[in-house]
Amino acid sequence: MKTLVVYESFFGNTEKIARAIGTALGLADTDIVRVSDLKPGQLTGLELFIAGSPTRAFQPSPETKTFLKGLPSGALNGVKVAAFDTRAVMNEKTPGILRFFAGLFGYAAEPMAKMLIKKGGTQVLAPAGFFVLNSEGPLKEGELERAAEWVKGIQ
Ligand SMILES: Cc1cc2nc3c(=O)[nH]c(=O)nc-3n(C[C@H](O)[C@H](O)[C@H](O)COP(=O)(O)O)c2cc1C
Repeated sequence: MKTLVVYESFFGNTEKIARAIGTALGLADTDIVRVSDLKPGQLTGLELFIAGSPTRAFQPSPETKTFLKGLPSGALNGVKVAAFDTRAVMNEKTPGILRFFAGLFGYAAEPMAKMLIKKGGTQVLAPAGFFVLNSEGPLKEGELERAAEWVKGIQ
């Protein structure tokens, strides 16, 4: 299945998840490309398109949003799509106000999935979030394995 995994990553954590996903899918058929390095034409002939972004201020990164919004209408017609994000672990040490706003405004993957569907894609996996322990990482233990499991759920 010809696949493109596009990601944005400031500290490398989302990139690690993107690579774990690519490896799980089989690298021969899968391109894994940073959104800023994407070349015209890399979206043509795709069967599966997966987009990943760090959650920033409860949303996808600005570059991810610009890219997804800028896709021509119908660009993903007939393409299977899925979205993931990375996000901070929220626990009892997280300031209450942050937890409140995270509950209210959510994370990057859901709005990304909506944008992919709006461009014609057929969602084949529920949006997923993978946890980092601090803003710069590392990823929570087991998240690379969870990402590999996530993509194996594709129909
Ligand atoms: C400016 C900034 C804003 C952030 N906003 C959120 C947020 O709203 N929700 C959240 O869960 N994590 C937030 N984080 C944590 C990021 O999600 C985390 O840095 C990211 O997952 C790391 O991925 P990367 O290494 O690929 O950049 C924020 C981090 C930064 C630096």
